[in-house]
Amino acid sequence: MTDNLQFQPIDSQFLLNPYPWLAQMRQEAPAFYDEAQQAWMVFRYDDVKHVLSEWKTFSSKPPQAPDRKDFTQALPFTDPPKHQSLRAIVQKVFTPNRVEALAPRITELTHELLDQMKSQNQIDLIKAFSSPLPIVVIGEILGVPLDDRENFKHWSDGILASDSTASQTMSDYFRTLLQERQSHPGQDLISDLTAAYEQGEKLTGQEVVDFCVLLLTAGNETTTNLIANTIWCLHENPDQNERLRNDLSLLPGAIEEVLRYSSPIAFLNRFTQVETHIADQTIPAGQTVHPWLAGANRDERQFENADRFIIDRTPNEHIAFGNGIHFCLGAPLSRLEAKIGLKALLEEFPNLCVDSTQPLKPIPNIRVHGLESLSVLL
Ligand code: HEM
Repeated sequence: MTDNLQFQPIDSQFLLNPYPWLAQMRQEAPAFYDEAQQAWMVFRYDDVKHVLSEWKTFSSKPPQAPDRKDFTQALPFTDPPKHQSLRAIVQKVFTPNRVEALAPRITELTHELLDQMKSQNQIDLIKAFSSPLPIVVIGEILGVPLDDRENFKHWSDGILASDSTASQTMSDYFRTLLQERQSHPGQDLISDLTAAYEQGEKLTGQEVVDFCVLLLTAGNETTTNLIANTIWCLHENPDQNERLRNDLSLLPGAIEEVLRYSSPIAFLNRFTQVETHIADQTIPAGQTVHPWLAGANRDERQFENADRFIIDRTPNEHIAFGNGIHFCLGAPLSRLEAKIGLKALLEEFPNLCVDSTQPLKPIPNIRVHGLESLSVLL
């Protein structure tokens, strides 16, 4: 392997643009053991899809004893049959219809945020818009009282930074809310999850709480990044920006292209149950594997001109939402939020552009792909 490009997980330039390294890895070391991370990394589209579909070989369950202080027993960290029973029940209440019914409310919440931006010439788009939007929406779905929503961003940031106090505080909060809903059910997801539990279905109180915490953590930063990465991609591709501005009906395709080209989750975790083979390498049992969604989604074996951002790319079978049994449950919701949010943003601020005088600062976490702040001129 040539050594001109290195894995530099804490370097800003690398975090902003890991793609040349990913291209080199796909070409020269498609399944690679990284000593520093003590993990196997897999980069090609077909191999990543394989890892995600073979759950018997590549388990989602962390091998360490689960720590009840965090939520490692929640949906994404389980295998069948546990995964199947948890997923069946949450799928029953977290349905595409329920999400679609939220469209008018998401539109209202979007306009509330945009109205607050109108008096300004320059703002941090992430702080003012792309971060609060998913938080207020999920708060609405869960039926969290308005007064408590301020805390959410704080808690979910804490959990992402592996702060066990934050996850404990959030769990305690949801436990109290759950008890309230058990005695006074409403028209919200917590009440429905509780009802399903009370009707002899499989969710325990702890599982309802875990699921609530999961929705806040799995759904917020990812959707924030999808919205902000769209503005970032458009800024870096002025021709595509102009096409979209002239025809907003291209927006749904543009969002799919952002998911592919600038995938909000860079890689996932899996754990080998048995010895297996990928790309001529033997991976022993008991190993951590990182299937790189960001690598797969730029694979030229799958996507023509993979390094070009093309808003009406067809076909576009990206795997930014994963693949197989753990396929993102929130995909319809994040697509809807991005569609409503970005359409309103681009309509309200037809001259919105990224302030090129400010350096771009990546989120300092190699697992996710996004910016800490994004200064825009309105
Ligand atoms: C752009 C936004 C999003 C992206 C890129 C994304 C990506 C993903 C990916 C890659 C997985 C698979 C994880 C794995 O296989 O280990 C996943 C799972 C999941 N996502 Fe999302 N997600 C997004 C938004 C959301 C939202 C808004 C919610 C809910 C409010 C959500 C809830 C979930 C849940 C519950 C799972 C676990 C599913 C399971 O294990 O069966 N996600 N997501």
